[in-house]
Amino acid sequence: METALARDDIRHGGQLPNIAIIGTGLIGCSWAAMMAATGRKVAIFDTRPEAGEAFQDFWTSVKPALVELGLADPDCQPDYRICTSLSDALRDADFVFECIPERLDMKRALYGEMEPLLKPTAIVATSSSGLKLSDLQAGWSNPGRVIIGHPFNPPHLVPLVELYANDQTDADVLPTARRLYESCGKVVIILKREVMGHVANRLQAAIWREAIHLVESDVASVEDVNAAVWAGPGLRWAIMGPHMLLHLGGGAGGLRAYCEQFTQSYTEWWDDLGKPQLTPETIDRLVSGLSEEIDGRDYATLRQQRDSQLIAVLKALSETRRSFGTVPELA
Ligand SMILES: NC(=O)c1ccc[n+]([C@@H]2O[C@H](COP(=O)([O-])OP(=O)(O)OC[C@H]3O[C@@H](n4cnc5c(N)ncnc54)[C@H](O)[C@@H]3O)[C@@H](O)[C@H]2O)c1
Repeated sequence: METALARDDIRHGGQLPNIAIIGTGLIGCSWAAMMAATGRKVAIFDTRPEAGEAFQDFWTSVKPALVELGLADPDCQPDYRICTSLSDALRDADFVFECIPERLDMKRALYGEMEPLLKPTAIVATSSSGLKLSDLQAGWSNPGRVIIGHPFNPPHLVPLVELYANDQTDADVLPTARRLYESCGKVVIILKREVMGHVANRLQAAIWREAIHLVESDVASVEDVNAAVWAGPGLRWAIMGPHMLLHLGGGAGGLRAYCEQFTQSYTEWWDDLGKPQLTPETIDRLVSGLSEEIDGRDYATLRQQRDSQLIAVLKALSETRRSFGTVPELA
């Protein structure tokens, strides 16, 4: 069953009806579910024999959330097939989500096998969290069809996708990819130049670095550092980015007034930020601090709690954004 989104997409040019997902772990399953929800045909290939069953279980577990967010029709049946070879998965593919582990050597080896099997017009988007496109393009005889399309976990819920293409990329690739991601409710940002870790992981890395430092230097417990984010600035970050928030922090004078007031403070704070290393001792300290907060809840329970709270936030934001009319709607 096609969703309204896919039907609309097909009406406007019948774009990219055949999707291949290569690697169906955490991220690949999520992309497969999103694409199936838009009514596209999804071919799945993973070197793990149990990947097909894992995707079916994943679909069953996430479908209610996709329906609740308006990203899938309630009666949607995913049109997918589990492939036993790469060539079968890529045969008709218009768009390929490459989601194998974050190892340059593995991705390059896979690309060497993939390229001769692809249609000349197919686009390959890697979900890579931080590898550089120029490194990933090496070895392609036509590097113009491969781009970065980095999601944030869990991709079926978190709207952000970071896209990066470079001067080797064919002109049609970025706009076509953007349209595909936006057709399933994603918020796309475009990187203007190559940088390790893209944008969002660099921001996450900056926060996590200081979060570790605050624990390591005995300023606060793991649980309190977590609360300082989710009960404080994290709530605001779900609504606006840091530059906009601090514009509001400057009163009527906006960001300029904020900078004038706080330049000295930030300069001193930035100088004082920590540079921890993930040593075995530091990892032990974080893990044991976190186990108190986890308080016996298993992985599935924590994931379920995270996802239901994310859905509640997304639904609330979708409603308020619709009424303010300033930001693209979720679906
Ligand atoms: N985990 C995250 O939070 C996250 C977030 C955003 C992006 N990513 C990126 O997404 C990619 C996948 O990460 P993941 O967390 O889903 O990894 P994962 O380990 O959960 O899944 C990888 C899957 O790829 C399969 N695989 C390995 N080699 C293969 C091959 N040659 N052909 C087909 N399948 C193969 C594995 O069997 C496994 O099922 C990575 O590049 C990662 O950086 C991860």
